[in-house]
Amino acid sequence: MKQIGVLTSGGDCPGLNACLRAVVRTALASGLKVLGIRHGYEGLMTGEVFPLDHSSVSGIINRGGTFLHTARSENFTTRKGMEQACAVLAEYKIEGLVILGGNGSLSGAWELAQKTRARILGIPKSIDNDVGGTDFSIGFDTAVNTAVEVIDKIRDTATSHDRLFLVETMGRKHGFLALATALAAGAEAVLLPETATEIAALCEKLDRGRRHGKVSSIVVVAEGDEQGGAMEIAKKLKRCSDYDIRVSIIGHQQRGGAPSAFDRILASQLGNAAVEALLQGKRSKVVGIQRGKIVLSPLATAFRSKRPLDPSLLRLSEILSR
Ligand code: F6P
Repeated sequence: MKQIGVLTSGGDCPGLNACLRAVVRTALASGLKVLGIRHGYEGLMTGEVFPLDHSSVSGIINRGGTFLHTARSENFTTRKGMEQACAVLAEYKIEGLVILGGNGSLSGAWELAQKTRARILGIPKSIDNDVGGTDFSIGFDTAVNTAVEVIDKIRDTATSHDRLFLVETMGRKHGFLALATALAAGAEAVLLPETATEIAALCEKLDRGRRHGKVSSIVVVAEGDEQGGAMEIAKKLKRCSDYDIRVSIIGHQQRGGAPSAFDRILASQLGNAAVEALLQGKRSKVVGIQRGKIVLSPLATAFRSKRPLDPSLLRLSEILSR
């Protein structure tokens, strides 16, 4: 193998640049040439391909976003889109392709792997932490820290004004981010897509807290809770609670900013491992970290396996917020 390509696909997150740096520098150290592909699969279909060298990735380990730019591509999964992508891979003699993506993008990577001779390696990144084959996706740790920092500030107002704040985190289908945030911020309750939300029981819990002397409360709501987002939950709570309620939606702040040290190290390990796997002749794999060890799994694991929430964390959050 002489030349590899690398791209970022789907929503951005902190740690992508650190990972790209690791991919490029590991490849160069092993004598490989590296091509960057801009705008994810969109750029792969249209040939937005350019060479990367050591200095292309200088000074980026601490930067959020992705210097390669990213996109969510509808066209890529069409037959024409796949054919175009395969043609660009052949035209630029890309023998191995490293794709940094969430479960949607890695599902696209798996389809591509069925159609191209190039070896495809996936690296999980998602603030939602919902990619299979890894305990941690790049970006999750930073997003949790961002959300906790926001809630620590909100708590000052909640306490000063004796209010209930509903704080919405991202996570349309999964509550990993909301649960970790709630635990670290010491929230009074957390509402998750994976667990049933009973408004009456939540009201009772908040009232009980007040009877025991709490003057304010924080409830973390994952945007995909089946009862609705924080705005919707606030409307429902107003019918049964006397609290002065406010809503705060954290939004895309969670996707930006400098990556945490944890994310920088994880991103560096996964980027390095992906290139080493390509050099060993591996193909159609997702590189993850499980119980502290770097693990290669079949690429389909990234999007086919359902990652459940950790029941011990759910229990802990329940006990500590009573
Ligand atoms: O998948 C990551 C994620 O940040 C989700 O948590 C969120 O629902 C979604 O992306 C938002 O996507 P966009 O930036 O395209 O609106």
